[in-house]
Amino acid sequence: MRVLGIETSCDETGIAIYDGEQGLLSHVLYSQIPLHADYGGVVPELASRDHVRKTLPLIKQALAEAGLTAADIDGVAYTAGPGLAGALLVGATLGRSLAFAWQKPALAVHHMEGHLLAPMLEEDAPAFPFLALLVSGGHTQLVAVEGIGSYTLLGESIDDAAGEAFDKTAKLMGLEYPGGPLLAKLATLGDPKKYTFPRPMTDRPGLDFSFSGLKTAASLVIQKEGNTAQVQADIAASFQQAVVDTLLIKCRRALQQTGYKRLVIAGGVSANEELRTQLGIMLGAMGGKVFYPRKAFCTDNGAMIAFAGYQRLAAGQQQDLTIGVTPRWPL
Ligand code: KG4
Ligand code: ZN
Repeated sequence: MRVLGIETSCDETGIAIYDGEQGLLSHVLYSQIPLHADYGGVVPELASRDHVRKTLPLIKQALAEAGLTAADIDGVAYTAGPGLAGALLVGATLGRSLAFAWQKPALAVHHMEGHLLAPMLEEDAPAFPFLALLVSGGHTQLVAVEGIGSYTLLGESIDDAAGEAFDKTAKLMGLEYPGGPLLAKLATLGDPKKYTFPRPMTDRPGLDFSFSGLKTAASLVIQKEGNTAQVQADIAASFQQAVVDTLLIKCRRALQQTGYKRLVIAGGVSANEELRTQLGIMLGAMGGKVFYPRKAFCTDNGAMIAFAGYQRLAAGQQQDLTIGVTPRWPL
């Protein structure tokens, strides 16, 4: 079975074709980041309009790169939430309509399920069960994963997501949107012990997170010390270490609670090198192992949607003819 995957939930148009036997046949991505950079964040209406322009040409490109035609596609999977309503509607409307025209099944995919399963696209794929740390611009969640569709939410952020905290702190320092990767790069030049940022909610039991206070801590340092290059680098390193420490503490707790030895990290922040390294060391010491997607599949992409869609379509699930999206959709 060959599945076309469509991702348009935010500011990336991602298209991919996944084959149950041959794996990923093609994947193409168009990032709108330059379009939104001037505004310091994603402008929903601009995002929707750009998805309208890009989705169909990218589907044609993905088919061409795989050496396929529409007749070779056995099912269509599209992100139906969570995300920006207008942006989601572009992919959902096109995906559902193409499947109808081709008389093939369609499936609405949960964006976070896509992220969660993305490490399974790699050669060294994790076996079930595993603990997943989902860290993106919109979510920070710890999920116990027993199999496809069997997800138990163990904890999540009560305010800002980890990626959002990276982006907001980066903005305070005058870095471009999205500042997360830029802040991570700056952190390599700074001293992670220079400033003491809180490790929120780690001194009480539970697996929830809170990251909104970190940007306030960063803004207080900027007010006091100025925004010179060295202060920026030291804030970046100290901030990143606070986020990484917090995630590590909660992951260790969740691994102890579940007894799982495998940890998957996914979502944009899983591209963070410091997080990968420190989680790797921690899991090694615990006799476990950490899994993550290749960098291109950490942030939003079509491959993870094609893969998640394939898993469910192959199991016989499919969508009725309704076109709908769920901008707020619990996993
Ligand atoms: O998963 P994603 O592409 O989109 C959402 O579903 O939100 O994640 C984007 C987020 C942004 O907040 C971005 O700043 C963050 O991931 N990010 C990073 C890094 N690369 C991307 N944060 C920290 N370090 C990185 N290397
Ligand atoms: Zn995402």
